[in-house]
Amino acid sequence: MAIRNIRVDDDPILRKKSRPITEFNDRLFELLDDMKDTMYNSGGVGLAGVQVGALRRVVVMDVSEDRNDYIELINPEITEVQGEQTGTEGCLSLPGLCGTVTRPNVVKVKAQNREGKWCLYKGEGLKARCFCHEIDHLDGILYKDKLDEGEVLYRTDSEQ
Ligand code: NI
Repeated sequence: MAIRNIRVDDDPILRKKSRPITEFNDRLFELLDDMKDTMYNSGGVGLAGVQVGALRRVVVMDVSEDRNDYIELINPEITEVQGEQTGTEGCLSLPGLCGTVTRPNVVKVKAQNREGKWCLYKGEGLKARCFCHEIDHLDGILYKDKLDEGEVLYRTDSEQ
């Protein structure tokens, strides 16, 4: 396992569409293990493959305070959304910035696990927000594209 470099700012790879995973092999497991290490090392709540330069449809997440709710999503798809929430969002690929984004409040996702088995996930609040944010990464979309009307990016260290 290793910590990989996170692609940031205007790196063009962040705008590319990731390809589905078709082979569940050691190369995939190594990528997932490295993504897990990289996410925890950086203190993030989620990381998509593209953020470490791998244009594959994979996401790792842990939105819990005590860092014990680790999940891996392979070829994830949102199957259902409910409600709405408005809150502040940040991204490891846009360091030092945050912005206000409205997302669904409840999100259901189907995704494959390491064995290729399809599993269902349901997230509410921050977890729902994270599902949306990470799956957007797989299509080259960043949260700054989805800021609420009239909103701008803030520096996280600025006084608001
Ligand atoms: Ni992000």
